[in-house]
Amino acid sequence: MPSPRSALLLALLPTISAAAPEYHRDIAPIIHENCSSCHRPGQAAPFSLISYAQVKKRARQIVEVTGERIMPPWHADRGVVEYANDRSLPDAQIELLRQWFEAGTPEGDRAHEKPAPVFPEGWELGKPDLEVAMSEPFTVPAQGHDIYRNFVIPLDLTEDKWINAIEYKPGAPQVVHHVLYFLDTSGTARKKDSEDPAPGFSGFGSVVNQFRYLGGWDLGTQSSKLPYDLAMKAPKGADLIIQVHYSPKGREYKDLSRLAIHFSDKPTARPWTILPVPPMFGILDGIDIPAGEKEYIKRNTFTVPTDLDAFRVNAHAHYLGKRMEMTATFPDGRKEWLLKMSDWNFAWQEDYQFKKPVRLPAGTKIDVLISWDNSATNPHQANHPPKPVRWGPQSHDEMGTITLSVMVDTQEQKDELHESVKRFMATQALARAFNGDVTTLQHARAGGIRIPDSTAAKLQEIAKSLDHDRDGKLSELETGIGAAILAPHMNGVGAIGID
Ligand code: HEC
Repeated sequence: MPSPRSALLLALLPTISAAAPEYHRDIAPIIHENCSSCHRPGQAAPFSLISYAQVKKRARQIVEVTGERIMPPWHADRGVVEYANDRSLPDAQIELLRQWFEAGTPEGDRAHEKPAPVFPEGWELGKPDLEVAMSEPFTVPAQGHDIYRNFVIPLDLTEDKWINAIEYKPGAPQVVHHVLYFLDTSGTARKKDSEDPAPGFSGFGSVVNQFRYLGGWDLGTQSSKLPYDLAMKAPKGADLIIQVHYSPKGREYKDLSRLAIHFSDKPTARPWTILPVPPMFGILDGIDIPAGEKEYIKRNTFTVPTDLDAFRVNAHAHYLGKRMEMTATFPDGRKEWLLKMSDWNFAWQEDYQFKKPVRLPAGTKIDVLISWDNSATNPHQANHPPKPVRWGPQSHDEMGTITLSVMVDTQEQKDELHESVKRFMATQALARAFNGDVTTLQHARAGGIRIPDSTAAKLQEIAKSLDHDRDGKLSELETGIGAAILAPHMNGVGAIGID
């Protein structure tokens, strides 16, 4: 005699199986819409998910990874901020995939079969206006330190152009950690290249400081065109410089990176730039994570000096990064999340595009919290046992910043924002100097920030001399005076912004 409960289940069974989802009618649209763009030949994912046979073969794994929300990859916490490019699946679709698997992955009626989705060939963004590549391959050795190498790529523009998108394809994705793009109109980069016998030339900070920053590529970045008719100016005759950060991976690789450039047929609709908090990847933030520390936290607050419209946000840390949080507190006291990520993943450094631009009026406070997990239990931990980790440019060092992309109405507003970012950096430098944190300042020098006096000790002297009331602390006023003096000497990606 079946129990009343199993009798009920038995009674329900025919209805459930009658309604069981079928591949062509119910499952293919979910897969084609959410998975096939990456799971197809020539893309980042290791196997294709397009046909019935391909999906059926991995059905169990698909149910697991969608159920745990590992796939599709999406690392912002759900239900906090609305992003236009949110890839996460609604619960109902996850449930449908599960039901289909449990019903034995039925193919269903082929009459419902839809044609395989069509994607642009080769480049993700379709046919570009200009394709360029490194002039020769660069050899990344099997072992050794990370390498920062700069390559000069002439664009041969015969007139000024406006760039709407740059898509990057590494030749050796195994060893490319990230890439930054710059423009040079002075010929300096060509000269440096010709002086160095190997392909390209070395250096990190000198390039970051000297050339105009255009953006970059990280692991897991999806290419996108700039929204709202925005564009970046590329003057006639300019060279593109790509700064590639390579991490050796146990065998020799040859990299020949390629780029696809899309032009806009008109100048940018509005001036725009980036606002990194803290600036320059956190170089002056005094990041110094004790071995074994489970939650090491840095907080920063930046007050917006002029009205901005934020249209996307992006976070950056290395392997130990954990929480990435940014909020806006508006002048009327209202508070809103801009980014909340509880489990940072180095492999997926996405641009999160707001559903609509977020207006940040002058006086809005941007609060950023970044945490790192340097414990032995962090699955991304490289050191066993854990070691202290400081700020640095190598991939086993750490960094941390959250960057907004913002539009303004006038060039003056943009200049005002850049001035504020420089004052922010100067304030950080003074705080480090005042507290005797010489190592951070030395790192900053190596990273390319120009501090006017030739020694960190001199900066310390300046910082101490600002303490007019001799209370052993720098007040807001005292810091403000010092920052105003130092700010013009601050430079770097964080302060340059995009023209
Ligand atoms: C933005 C690109 C992208 C999208 C969209 C995407 N995947 Fe993936 N997927 C990857 C990459 C890259 C890997 C391999 C690296 C990894 O495991 O993180 C992967 C791995 C997988 C794996 C193997 C996981 C493992 O543990 O080995 C499965 C299964 C999978 N994806 C299923 C899906 C399904 C189902 C969807 C859609 C609902 C989807 N993916 C959407 C990029 C993507």
